[in-house]
Amino acid sequence: MFRVLVTGAKGQVGSELVNLVPAGFTVIGLSSAQLDITDQDQVNVAVALHQPNLIINAAAYTAVDKAESDSDNAYAINEKAVAWLAQAAAHADIPLFHISTDYVFDGESTTPYKETDSINPQSVYGASKLAGEQMLAATHNKHIILRTSWVFSARGNNFVKTMLRLAKERDELSIVGDQHGCPTSATSIADILWKLAELYQQTDSLPWGIYNFSNSSACSWYEFAVEIFKQARESGFIPQTPTIKKITTADYPTPAVRPAFSVLDCSKLEKLLGQKIPEWKSELSTI
Ligand SMILES: NC(=O)c1ccc[n+]([C@@H]2O[C@H](COP(=O)([O-])OP(=O)(O)OC[C@H]3O[C@@H](n4cnc5c(N)ncnc54)[C@H](OP(=O)(O)O)[C@@H]3O)[C@@H](O)[C@H]2O)c1
Repeated sequence: MFRVLVTGAKGQVGSELVNLVPAGFTVIGLSSAQLDITDQDQVNVAVALHQPNLIINAAAYTAVDKAESDSDNAYAINEKAVAWLAQAAAHADIPLFHISTDYVFDGESTTPYKETDSINPQSVYGASKLAGEQMLAATHNKHIILRTSWVFSARGNNFVKTMLRLAKERDELSIVGDQHGCPTSATSIADILWKLAELYQQTDSLPWGIYNFSNSSACSWYEFAVEIFKQARESGFIPQTPTIKKITTADYPTPAVRPAFSVLDCSKLEKLLGQKIPEWKSELSTI
């Protein structure tokens, strides 16, 4: 059996990784209570104890706005802890798959971002995630960095769950219409990480480096909300659709600056795996 240690196993992506483990793989999914990745000793003990063939780091500090006033913690989890994982993976000579974010970009582009485009994070969260990417790349060659965006799931905190809660509480909602990105289901991310793991298992190598991955088709938060309510209404999950007012980012100031455009070009990964990436609307209908 090919053994995979998953950190952050109770998060949106971590729990889907544990749910979707393919045949031939054994997953050791460790929650933050079972493995605090900021503790180097705990990381080393976990790797020595479980003897994985691969580590997938699904743990992260993901509170984008809170990070602006809590940067020490954001960097401890998103940068320093990645060093502990990378060092342990290098010592064991196994790959480390790590997840990063579209928020490493500044959003000034008008065409989808490629892996090689300039990075320029605008928030503490984005900067801490970029620092983690750089830490990993400098520490351990056998790595995959999967940059993803706008994650949603039936579990955890995300835009879909917030919209569904608000739809039951309010008749009218104001949603930002001038930020564009690609919603991505946690199940799609888990699925693609397992495909990469299978490829590694079969070939004993991978073209290491950074890959973009999001579900296909871009939209604004406003368009995302419209589709969430459409599907929720059709399935009878909400009794009626709230009125949605389209507003601008300036109308809805937040502590963290978010990129106005963070659409990812995923063609590098599509080419590697030889498959098309699913649409977010079809993924939304499955949660
Ligand atoms: N969510 C998004 O929209 C989004 C967008 C782009 C990229 N990403 C990236 O995608 C990845 C997965 O995100 P997600 O949405 O699944 O996040 P999530 O639901 O917030 O899960 C993150 C997990 O990390 C755990 N964690 C936090 N600190 C830890 C520590 N010190 N040691 C061990 N575990 C710790 C958390 O546990 P506790 O809850 O117990 O603290 C939580 O279970 C992350 O790398 C994130 O940066 C997310």
